[in-house]
Amino acid sequence: MFRDITTLLKDPVGFRVTINELVKRYTGVKIDRVAAIEARGFIIGSALAYQLGLGFVPIRKQGKLPAETVGHDYELEYGADRIEMHVDAVSKGERVLLVDDLTATGGTAGAACKLIESMGGKIVECCFVIDLPDLGGRARLEKQGHKVFALCEFEGE
Ligand code: PRP
Ligand code: MG
Repeated sequence: MFRDITTLLKDPVGFRVTINELVKRYTGVKIDRVAAIEARGFIIGSALAYQLGLGFVPIRKQGKLPAETVGHDYELEYGADRIEMHVDAVSKGERVLLVDDLTATGGTAGAACKLIESMGGKIVECCFVIDLPDLGGRARLEKQGHKVFALCEFEGE
């Protein structure tokens, strides 16, 4: 089963309710930046940053960002991958909300958190539209010391 948010995004009410629910959660919370992970995380993260009146930080796959980057290598089920952000994207002590569409194993979000923390950023929370708890993402991120929020969960993966 491939969990995918495109049917949610094409529904104007569904998309609006999704972003509005996240806006409600984070309004009044001390956040300096919203960081989101390429590619699907950008859709949620940029709309959320816009509504919260915050700046947006893209975390991208290797070789995509134009200026000087910092990266973090991480293991996948098959092989390895690397994510990057600009060296000046997050400053020491900044409070960052990490956003992605979905967490499965938590590997991608965990790597993004490590990357942000390597620049001195503090993760306020890891925020997802979907959590697949059977794949252990929430547990893995919590073990890394992060708070995790997901709008919905699908069990039995
Ligand atoms: C999917 C999803 C998350 C990640 C979750 O992205 O959008 O970013 O996988 O998996 P994990 O918790 O096991 O790391 P994908 O790498 O398929 O790319 P995309 O967002 O660019 O489509
Ligand atoms: Mg993704």
